[in-house]
Amino acid sequence: MSARGSLFFLAANAIGALGSPVAVRDVAPAAATVSTDSSAGVPLFPKEAVQLTDAALKTADSQTTEVDVAAVFGFDGDEDTTAVAKRAIKSSQCKAFPGDSKYPKEWMWSIFDLLLGGALIKTTPIAAPCYANSAWSDYDEAKCADISARFTTSDLHTSDPTSMMWPLFQGRTCMPTDDPSGTCTLGGYASYSIDVKNVAQVQLGVNFARNMNLRLTVKNTGHDYIGKSSGAGALNLWTHNLKDIQFIKQYKSAGYTGPAFKAGAGVQGFEILEAAREHDVTVMTGICETVGWSGGYITGGGHSPLASIYGMAADQVLAFEVVTADGRFVTASDSKNSDLFWALRGGGGGTFGVVTSVIAKAHPRIHVTKSVFSFQAPVNDSANFWKGINAYMKRFPEFTNAGTYSYFWIWNYGTTLDFQMTPFFAPNHTIESFNALTKDFFADLKSFNISATPNTTYHDDFYSANKGSWGADTLGVTTIRQATRLFPKSLWATEEKFNSFYTTIQDTVMNGHTVGGYHMAPGNPFKVDNAVNEAWRNTQSFLITANMVPENATPAQLKEASDYLTYDIMDSWRAVAPASEGGGVYLNEADIQEPNWQTDFYGAKHYPKLLAIKKRWDPKGVFYATTAVGSEDWEVRDGEQGTQTQNGRLCRV
Ligand SMILES: Cc1cc2nc3c(=O)[nH]c(=O)nc-3n(C[C@H](O)[C@H](O)[C@H](O)COP(=O)(O)OP(=O)(O)OC[C@H]3O[C@@H](n4cnc5c(N)ncnc54)[C@H](O)[C@@H]3O)c2cc1C
Ligand SMILES: *[C@@H]1O[C@H](CO)[C@@H](O)[C@H](O)[C@H]1NC(C)=O
Ligand SMILES: *[C@@H]1O[C@H](CO)[C@@H](O)[C@H](O)[C@H]1NC(C)=O
Ligand SMILES: *[C@@H]1O[C@H](CO)[C@@H](O)[C@H](O)[C@H]1NC(C)=O
Ligand SMILES: *[C@@H]1O[C@H](CO)[C@@H](O)[C@H](O)[C@H]1NC(C)=O
Repeated sequence: MSARGSLFFLAANAIGALGSPVAVRDVAPAAATVSTDSSAGVPLFPKEAVQLTDAALKTADSQTTEVDVAAVFGFDGDEDTTAVAKRAIKSSQCKAFPGDSKYPKEWMWSIFDLLLGGALIKTTPIAAPCYANSAWSDYDEAKCADISARFTTSDLHTSDPTSMMWPLFQGRTCMPTDDPSGTCTLGGYASYSIDVKNVAQVQLGVNFARNMNLRLTVKNTGHDYIGKSSGAGALNLWTHNLKDIQFIKQYKSAGYTGPAFKAGAGVQGFEILEAAREHDVTVMTGICETVGWSGGYITGGGHSPLASIYGMAADQVLAFEVVTADGRFVTASDSKNSDLFWALRGGGGGTFGVVTSVIAKAHPRIHVTKSVFSFQAPVNDSANFWKGINAYMKRFPEFTNAGTYSYFWIWNYGTTLDFQMTPFFAPNHTIESFNALTKDFFADLKSFNISATPNTTYHDDFYSANKGSWGADTLGVTTIRQATRLFPKSLWATEEKFNSFYTTIQDTVMNGHTVGGYHMAPGNPFKVDNAVNEAWRNTQSFLITANMVPENATPAQLKEASDYLTYDIMDSWRAVAPASEGGGVYLNEADIQEPNWQTDFYGAKHYPKLLAIKKRWDPKGVFYATTAVGSEDWEVRDGEQGTQTQNGRLCRV
């Protein structure tokens, strides 16, 4: 909807839907251009200097008589606003839901769109073109075929305002299909999105959601493994198009002097990697290049192939620009709003505010040696195969001390086992130093009659070593439930402890499951005090397993598969690496029904502190995401879908 174009729409719609005529005047976007000065030490992006100000609200108010703009779209703490918000929330345990009497009417959304400058998008589920009888009536066989073909690739989902990569948590209400007679509904997708292009739009969205008691979601790429970017009935802030990147050759603050990048919230891994190559520096990104950089990745901690050298991605952050739950725009850094700054570095996305940009350290160019190898064995003759795995795993301390990282899978195909190292990633290593580091390991493999021919290559910089290294991603599917765990260094302290770890993993595989993961030890090389889960500081290995879910599973089948994963497979992992002994779970790659998620995702020491910061910065619960800090006060009433989905009302418990 463009601002001008929608004026006519507003007139027609307002009279029709409301039954009472709404005098339409020229309502301009509620935004003002302010100074780009920032205490972060780097000027705001021009988009960040377009803000909602008290004066802009006043101007908008004078342009329309049908809504009290200041009250409905104003900041928290304003007198009018407080009264409206109180009315909206009164006697309601739940956020307003489409169809409720207190849910904004069409004409209100139209005015909202004018104030946003035409940035509002009413949701069409991504796979709606596959359905002949959906409410969107846009059945299109060719489009459907294209969506179906690309459903397991990330670009389809990142370029859509509400689509997400793990449809189980959306509620599977509009899956691609070649049967056009099925039903397609919104399910856990938000109802409306703002295609965010400036800060004023974020502020308007936060204010409108808070004052009208709407559920608010923030969606960047939709990678989140448990659907934290979605929510039925919500107003969604889609940050994907905030793509600015600026290189700062010499950033200066009390704690750091050196190169840095300032990046908008929509910047993805591959984009910041390209910028870093261009300026001959290195930045930390995840192994999946399409993951958002300054959204969920950095705010959730962020591990990287450089983790064993530089720590977590959140450790590199120098400042954020943020819209907070009261609608105000603030800087968060060591010297400004330092509690918010602490929480935003590891305390999770979608919880404390909406990041509009991040400033983070860049490091000098680094050379990398990487190596790919594999070995296989029949399941019923796998003693030597397991000796090989043991020889690898027992050396994790040696390998992480040398600054390396790996990504590997141990597949159980029923009759054969397959170990795939894809790859062993050794930053700051030459082929010679890599060979020296791994000589004894490969000698061990040979002594076990394992033939594994490593393909070892040298790369001048992180960019070329990283590009295309990590295999194809699995996403967009409904047949996998995943769980992960962080295994602490203490498990390598004695032979007995190591064996308990190793046999647990061996048992999981021999019981028919796949185990993947990493050797990595982020530690805390820069001695940063931030919200990153304390477990990460002790981590020696991060492992993943999964349970398969039948195609088109019924809720009962999904529940059975989920519970088997959470309580059967993962019980032994929890037992060998309990939080009390330094174990934990990476909140960004987790099982949605992890039993003690507060302690496992955030840490026993950090969780109470994070909760206090959440209550301080978001006392009204504007931001909610499943398993986010403070989310235990809420529940999504989705009925029985087999796993917790976002397809239901959000209510206080
Ligand atoms: C294939 C794949 C590979 C991955 N590899 C890695 C890896 O190597 N290392 C690693 O650490 N992680 C990895 N991840 C996990 C990834 O870090 C998380 O999924 C992360 O949450 C994605 O963030 P996003 O912003 O791209 O996604 P989204 O799903 O859009 O958002 C995730 C969460 O962050 C919130 N959020 C997004 N933007 C903002 C913002 N601007 N302000 C506030 N909150 C925001 C959302 O509300 C949501 O709660 C991987 C995920 C996948 C699917
Ligand atoms: C393993 O199983 C295969 C059949 O799957 C069989 O041919 C083979 O003899 C078995 N080997 C051992 C060592 O039991
Ligand atoms: C890379 O290795 C050299 C020694 O070969 C060391 O001096 C340097 O500190 C290392 N760089 C990083 C970033 O670890
Ligand atoms: C390796 O193979 C050789 C020759 O077949 C055999 O003698 C030796 O016992 C094997 N070693 C192991 C550890 O299986
Ligand atoms: C070895 O790895 C390099 C770099 O990934 C690749 O280009 C090459 O084809 C590989 N060689 C073999 C024999 O697989």
